[in-house]
Amino acid sequence: MTLPSPSTHYKPDQLDIHLSEEDIQTRIREMADEINKAFANSEKLIIIAVLKGSFMFVADLIRHIKVPSQIEFVRLASYGDGQTSSGNVKPVDLSLPSLSGEDVLIVEDIIDTGLTLHFFMDYLTSLHHTRSLKLAVLLDKKEARQKEVQVDFAGFTVGNQFLVGYGLDFAGYYRNLPFIGVVKN
Ligand code: XMP
Ligand code: MG
Repeated sequence: MTLPSPSTHYKPDQLDIHLSEEDIQTRIREMADEINKAFANSEKLIIIAVLKGSFMFVADLIRHIKVPSQIEFVRLASYGDGQTSSGNVKPVDLSLPSLSGEDVLIVEDIIDTGLTLHFFMDYLTSLHHTRSLKLAVLLDKKEARQKEVQVDFAGFTVGNQFLVGYGLDFAGYYRNLPFIGVVKN
């Protein structure tokens, strides 16, 4: 696959739309309803988004969250510029407030091999005694799983293909697309 050039990377003939903007927004509302129900008895929720990929998803999701929430961000890297998980999770920024006794929701764009979230959940539970800890992912590439991770809220199950858009990138491109697509070869 060749890299998209900045002047052409929006052209629809380069991408097949896999999930439309409407598909995504409809499902996010449903996920928010599920999350609101699950945390209905919480006084406060700490939402931790895993950057970079989850920035769009978390921004849209939290607009529908009715539990009083604080939003935190961590940054982990694993994919590099390729299209397969490196298996090497690089913590770029893990700074967080104390999560002791808190209800916590991790928000991630996609779970693939599970290595990234397995690492992060392990890290969190070894350092913080949360009151509860749940995980929301927009996309679940179930077939690719190498490490078991409990996903509490999943948007869509997707096949083992490389997806871009709506926060997901290929070599840094496509994150700004409002839909999720597959790059045509
Ligand atoms: P793992 O394999 O650790 O992967 O579960 C999690 C991270 O890998 C990235 N990822 C993707 N990025 N298209 C992308 O643009 C994809 O199809 C894809 N699959 C995984 C993503 O950053 C995620 O946080
Ligand atoms: Mg990525």
